[in-house]
Amino acid sequence: MDWGMKNRLSRIIRPASGKTVMLAVDHGYFMGPTSGLEKLDEMVNPLLPYADTLMLTRGALRYYISPEVDVPITLRVSGGTSILNEEELLHEGVTCSVEDAVRLNVSCVAFSILVGAPYERDTILAFAEVIDEARAYGIPTLCVTAVGRDMVRDARYMRLASRLGAELGADIIKTYYVEDGFETVTESCPVPVVIAGGKKIPEKEALQMAHNAIAAGAVGVDMGRNIFQSESPVAMIQAVRSVVHEGASVDEAFDLYQSLKGEVKTTT
Ligand code: R5P
Repeated sequence: MDWGMKNRLSRIIRPASGKTVMLAVDHGYFMGPTSGLEKLDEMVNPLLPYADTLMLTRGALRYYISPEVDVPITLRVSGGTSILNEEELLHEGVTCSVEDAVRLNVSCVAFSILVGAPYERDTILAFAEVIDEARAYGIPTLCVTAVGRDMVRDARYMRLASRLGAELGADIIKTYYVEDGFETVTESCPVPVVIAGGKKIPEKEALQMAHNAIAAGAVGVDMGRNIFQSESPVAMIQAVRSVVHEGASVDEAFDLYQSLKGEVKTTT
């Protein structure tokens, strides 16, 4: 692997722990102003000191984030449909060129494929082209294994989609955690795996999910709603970090969340 590629990857997956806490705030690309991200900058700025990378779209980056911040960027470069389009949900193509990603000095580009959809071929071939272009500039790619509303979320599906993304040439795979057999997903994937957070669940359950995923071989989380829709996002991201980077137990992380939540309340 070339120096530039290694350097960018090491800015995301931190060498000290081999783990990463990716903060995902790219939801607007198909959901519009998601709850918690209406004023994206106000939500994200206090979280930046605790994020190993910020995942978002080029519009959100240019309009909401100061170019002076010191956080590696994972840029979403796929899209094309909204949540209103039931028939072609997540039928994604390229929404940002690698050239513009270079201009934005990003550390990684992210693309969603939808394995199993009637239009899977479009998403897979478009991603393959992005990988070729990104590699030419030493930019790693993150494959988001999207899952359609009616599709079965089990280890068999996650294994297939994750391995497929890796065989296309992705450098990191983002998939969903499943209770039964998640270790078979990480074991059969030759590149690092991170989990998406998914819909908001109680904080302790989200910490449990992160803990289980790390125990089953994930290198981290690419978490959005379970952080920015938390009662205390700043406390939650630190609790997630303690699980991912420090190996905290769920109880320890939840205690940390509660004590930090108290502190945030008394200082505001
Ligand atoms: C979905 O495809 C987006 O890429 C989100 O970034 C991803 O789902 C992670 O966010 P959340 O933890 O809210 O699911």
